[in-house]
Amino acid sequence: MNFVGEHILSVAQLDRADVEQIFAVADKMTPFAQRERVTRVLDGAILCNLFFEASTRTRLSFGAAFNFLGGSVRETTDMASTSLVKGESLKDFAQVISGYSDVIVMRHPIDGAVAEFAEASRSPVLNGGDGSNEHPTQALLDLYTIKKELRARKMDLDDLRIAVIGDLKYGRAVHSLIKLLKLFRNITFHLIAPPALSAPENVVNELRETGHEVQHFEQLQHGIQGVDVLYVTRTQEERFSSSAEAREYKGLFRINQVVYSQHCEPETIIMHPLPRDSREAAQELSVDLDSHPNFAVFRQSDNGLIVRMALFALILDVVDKVEDHSAPVGWITDARKWD
Ligand code: CP
Repeated sequence: MNFVGEHILSVAQLDRADVEQIFAVADKMTPFAQRERVTRVLDGAILCNLFFEASTRTRLSFGAAFNFLGGSVRETTDMASTSLVKGESLKDFAQVISGYSDVIVMRHPIDGAVAEFAEASRSPVLNGGDGSNEHPTQALLDLYTIKKELRARKMDLDDLRIAVIGDLKYGRAVHSLIKLLKLFRNITFHLIAPPALSAPENVVNELRETGHEVQHFEQLQHGIQGVDVLYVTRTQEERFSSSAEAREYKGLFRINQVVYSQHCEPETIIMHPLPRDSREAAQELSVDLDSHPNFAVFRQSDNGLIVRMALFALILDVVDKVEDHSAPVGWITDARKWD
């Protein structure tokens, strides 16, 4: 794929070479995200962040990534403060906003709404999560993290064994990650969910059709054995018809130090797209694992910065110009290392 000027709406747009290209550019972005160098390559460019659902990581890391490349960010975080509430169509909205921006990131509660917006946008649009459909940049940063963690174990993505745990029905990060992993060879998926929250049939069928192994589990302790990665997710309460209905599924699967040490292999990587639900009824991933060396969760959120910088650089065609517009950082003595 030639990324220049393209929308990124679904991981289905990407092939393996595209993913590897994004990761290679992300590697180059590391000194800028770690504040060793600054670049002004996107000086004068404007990102418009349109987030119509709650977000911590996606909104702020897209914004920070654009700032790290020298660009400016405009944001709307509440649909009620836009004229969409006066009946304006997404298409009119897109015509207008794309006149103000060089690139747009949108999160929307309805499946397919970001693609509908993109159809009328004159600027490239990145999907920051649409309903329970997809969250493509989350999947890219997750995969980048898995690759990096495996590298330390002298492994690569082919032949990966991964347990995906929790709300696999509504979890858009899960849907995108599974579809992205399909591009690699011989992946074993352990899908751990209650039957009512199992992964969409079409997603599972595509895995099998492309030669990957899929096993379903309802018992956590069986599914988390013999895998390289645990990918834990929360119950997506906002997609249920009521909090009471969501509560039926919270707390069903809990990974903590005891469960991990009894059932997982010693090298198993622990991941979660965040936010984790730390309320008493849920706690799908205990804080007692936070200091474990295999706990990669905050490395995931750090990696989100460089993966999103890479996407901006590719889409706005500045990959080869980043260095020319850069200088050492003058305002901080110790670069902040997070790798
Ligand atoms: N992982 C993720 O999408 O987090 P936010 O909802 O905080 O953006």
